[in-house]
Amino acid sequence: MAMTGVLRPGHAQIRVLDLEEGINHYGKVLGLIETGRDSQGRVYFKAWDERDHNSVILREADTAGIDFFGFKVADQATLDKLDRDLQAYGLKTERIPAGELLETGERVRFEVPSGHQIELFWEKSDYGTDDTYTNPPPWTDEAERGIAPIRLDHCLLYGPDIEKVQDIFCKVLGFYLVEHVIMEDGKTDLAIWLSCSTKAHDIAFVRHPEPGKLHHVSFLLESWEKVLRAADIMSMNKVSIDIGPTRHGITRGTTIYAFDPSGNRFETFCGGYQCYPDWKPVRWTWDEVGTGIFYHDRKLNERFLTVVS
Ligand SMILES: [Fe+2]
Repeated sequence: MAMTGVLRPGHAQIRVLDLEEGINHYGKVLGLIETGRDSQGRVYFKAWDERDHNSVILREADTAGIDFFGFKVADQATLDKLDRDLQAYGLKTERIPAGELLETGERVRFEVPSGHQIELFWEKSDYGTDDTYTNPPPWTDEAERGIAPIRLDHCLLYGPDIEKVQDIFCKVLGFYLVEHVIMEDGKTDLAIWLSCSTKAHDIAFVRHPEPGKLHHVSFLLESWEKVLRAADIMSMNKVSIDIGPTRHGITRGTTIYAFDPSGNRFETFCGGYQCYPDWKPVRWTWDEVGTGIFYHDRKLNERFLTVVS
């Protein structure tokens, strides 16, 4: 097995102001499949082509935002090793017992200097069916219900000290820098895109004074046509669209940014190139940051830098 260590984004727990509105948005409009509810009132979803029990968990709260973002790692030995490595680096880690999240094993949680709670886990119940593993059809009815992304893909988080965050993700967790945007001073990073795989990003950070903020959680679609279809479904359901359909210069993905009913931004996107850890990072200069973020508009909209949850 070539892929070891941290495998991929596994789950995001998102705070919503009204649970029923959230269930309608993530279940009917986005088209995720509800897979469970727990004694705390949290509601669990997966995308149609995901095999694990859950990837999006909604928690009703007084403020919107993200509680934590979790990565799946290869096995128990990897989980234990990364826990030790994080502590050796100087971070405090916490073990969350198996079952605290439905159908999910023990998690290792730690806070990164941007103020975000990051988790590692390796066990989550397989939700595949016979159709998943034996003579599978290319898609199912659920692949046509709502926007119907393939999977939870990545998130973009806003907070301070992103160079320290990059150090932890790259030196301890085995990620690598794929792209970055440099500020007006020509040296400080405004934003970083990090990968633990061959995806152009598995997590990204933008420098921001307030810690722990969510810019967006992103869901992968199969084609540019499905991005257009997603925009149609958003308008049919009066979803507040931030921008798009358009294209990012950074990662080359095609994209729509929109807001859930609680004001959490989400992205439905397609594409983005494949990269490898030996590649040198791509750098975007301050004068071209607009082109990097929105390739067609070639300028940032004010909301991109200021509206977070
Ligand atoms: Fe994104």
